[in-house]
Amino acid sequence: MWDKTQLKETIQTQMGDYKLIIASNRQPYSHIKKGSEIICQRQPGGLVTALTPVMETVNGTWIGTGTSPYDKEVVDSDNKIQLPPDNPSFSLKRIFLSKQEMDGFYYGYSNEGMWPLSHIAYERPTFTAEDWEYYQKVNKRYAEAILEEVGKEKAFVWIQDFHLMLVAKYLRESDNPNIITSLFWHIPWPNPEVFGICPQKNELLEGLLAHDLLGFQVKSHCDNFFQSVESSLESRIDREQNVVTHTKRETIVKPFPISIDFEQISKEAESKDIEERMEQLREEYNLKGKKVIFGIDRIDYTKGIPDKLRAIDRFIEKRPEYREKFVFIQLGQVSRIQVPRYKALNDEINSLVVDINWKHSQGSWAPIVFTSEYVQYQDILALYRLADICIVSSLHDGMNLVAKEYVATRSDLDGVLLLSQFTGAARELSDAIIINPYDPESFAGAIAQGLAMLPEEKEKRMKKMRDIVENNNIYRWAGRVLSKLLNLEFDEE
Ligand code: F6P
Repeated sequence: MWDKTQLKETIQTQMGDYKLIIASNRQPYSHIKKGSEIICQRQPGGLVTALTPVMETVNGTWIGTGTSPYDKEVVDSDNKIQLPPDNPSFSLKRIFLSKQEMDGFYYGYSNEGMWPLSHIAYERPTFTAEDWEYYQKVNKRYAEAILEEVGKEKAFVWIQDFHLMLVAKYLRESDNPNIITSLFWHIPWPNPEVFGICPQKNELLEGLLAHDLLGFQVKSHCDNFFQSVESSLESRIDREQNVVTHTKRETIVKPFPISIDFEQISKEAESKDIEERMEQLREEYNLKGKKVIFGIDRIDYTKGIPDKLRAIDRFIEKRPEYREKFVFIQLGQVSRIQVPRYKALNDEINSLVVDINWKHSQGSWAPIVFTSEYVQYQDILALYRLADICIVSSLHDGMNLVAKEYVATRSDLDGVLLLSQFTGAARELSDAIIINPYDPESFAGAIAQGLAMLPEEKEKRMKKMRDIVENNNIYRWAGRVLSKLLNLEFDEE
């Protein structure tokens, strides 16, 4: 079983004098002001959940975009800070973007273009020449920051996600030949017809093929990528060896399903502190004697939050005997709020919650508790443990780590996971109740099935899911990527 120690030893012995640099748009921690104090807050999202424990183990440098004005106040002259605050084990080097860069690169090209392009959620992607300019400019800034960090040394640069598709190409233009690069694509890769919509498709593919290794979540995303390359660029594709050759450069393309720090989450969720917090939350939300249904998502139209709310509505219509017998707690982490579609989604969710609660409330009971306020990680763990059912209803999702986190917290083998068939996680967690979020009838039926499930059945399913996540943990994921990349002997395949 891969763990922290094995990953650390592997990297220390095998990476030799290579530096490890991770680059992502999203930084792992942000500094904000609370009262008169600047505090350090862990950031939401699957990427941060997955990579933070890896970075804590391997002691490298993480390059990410600073998002708060206080992020600037705490860094040194190289824009660096040691993190996490209680046990510094890696450097975070922050890039600070102007308002225009943020608009064009992040809100515009990345989140109004690439994000809807890559997810089947029927949201039209928008590409503008101005956004594309900023996307290139910020990718160049990332490449400059990486080169500054590498100097003349050898480095393994591990780039994350759809925001930074051009960075490797710019790195190749430098005079340092000792840089090995990989990009992990956290979201789905669309089919070639859809990818063909993008006006800059060739430049993006060429940017990606400047890497030594490209990782996707599942095989079908790799297949879509191969087909996109085939229909756009002169290239040779060896599907048996998973290699694309373009302009004499070879890029390995493989699936590496991302995961979580199972052991750490499992242990932390069992702690006395979390148990105390569970007790307090039971009081706060008035949960005594009631079943708890739980969801936590970034507020994003790909996550199917309105569909989840409509399924709750339909469930109460179909099974009125459950009135006053359950509470559905949905946490939403506000995200990308400058993009109009996200603003509209926030409004849609708020109004659905008001309407459904109004329709079904009885006395002091209302079925849905929804909050988009920041909730501490410990409280999230306590809520996972309180949840009789956890619902992940994404319309399309590269992996979805909420599903894996829920499973990791349930060492009591209690609890039922309802998991959308359109997530990467559904390929691994087939013992969840698999749902189609587009179908409110069967979705409502699955909620009833989850609430009525017998303890033996719950245990059997949870045990199998826990074994899978425990075995395919984040250290195994990182170990597999690094070993593939460094062509080391411990390659598992
Ligand atoms: O998983 C996709 C992703 O864009 C990650 O890169 C990111 O950490 C997460 O979703 C959250 O998105 P954002 O950083 O835009 O809030």
